[in-house]
Amino acid sequence: MADDPFAQLADKFADEAYASVKGYVRTYVLHHQLLEHLPPSATVLDVGGGAGHQSFPLAEAGYEVTVLDPSAAMLGKARQRWEKLSAEAQRRVTFVHADGERASEALGGRRFDAVLCHGVLGYLDDPVPLVDQLCRCAAPGGVVSIMTANAKTMAVQPALEQRWADALAAFDARTGIGVLGVRGRADTVEEISSLIQARGVDPVQWYGVWLFVDWLGFGGVDVDPGSREQVAAVELEAARRDPYRQLSRVFHLVGRKAR
Ligand SMILES: C[S@@+](CC[C@H](N)C(=O)[O-])C[C@H]1O[C@@H](n2cnc3c(N)ncnc32)[C@H](O)[C@@H]1O
Repeated sequence: MADDPFAQLADKFADEAYASVKGYVRTYVLHHQLLEHLPPSATVLDVGGGAGHQSFPLAEAGYEVTVLDPSAAMLGKARQRWEKLSAEAQRRVTFVHADGERASEALGGRRFDAVLCHGVLGYLDDPVPLVDQLCRCAAPGGVVSIMTANAKTMAVQPALEQRWADALAAFDARTGIGVLGVRGRADTVEEISSLIQARGVDPVQWYGVWLFVDWLGFGGVDVDPGSREQVAAVELEAARRDPYRQLSRVFHLVGRKAR
């Protein structure tokens, strides 16, 4: 944790990206997908939880949430946002400053009913040590929820931005410049599924996250913020169906650890 790459990105991610219709859709769709798998009143560990955009709604819904992140800047953002939660939800949130790769040790070996890791693997050269910790931190019967970039849809962004040479090169690429302007790495559903399966977590379901709002954005169209609820409802439906989910630039994989 010597340096903090997210010190430069914290405002852009926590304030700008989530303020957009696309940010609203991301939280809405992931939240609803998660609720299909979480038991009521569970303990949730959010690894690389950042400013708490995914886990704070769970704390408001009654879940006991631990946000673990190596970035002091992102945890600072999380604490600012935490102050705006209800008093009951505030009591259900704990912060831990640590690398995901040493989550189990930092948490004293505690196991959780659900372990989330959304938008983190793409920033790591090798996803294996972190995936290993996610599976380790899940209790028997617990849920592991991973969202990351889809390596099968790498040509979408450059094509919609009419960068045709980049689009042609992107079909077999594993990295690309993401919405935060930094290079990120992508994985496939199959690869992450086999990583979790090898660690005792069976893949249960996978979804897309956003599709239409994402593509419209790259095409230069601003979606009307007044329609965001309708957009989110459409995206939720697309994210669970083929062929739409296969075309989303990110995927959400949910697994369950053996009892
Ligand atoms: C794009 S943000 C996603 C935040 C949050 N999961 C969300 O969906 O809103 C990526 C987060 O991953 C964190 N991160 C980066 N490297 C990490 C690592 N090795 N272990 C755990 N978290 C990490 C960053 O500090 C940052 O908060």
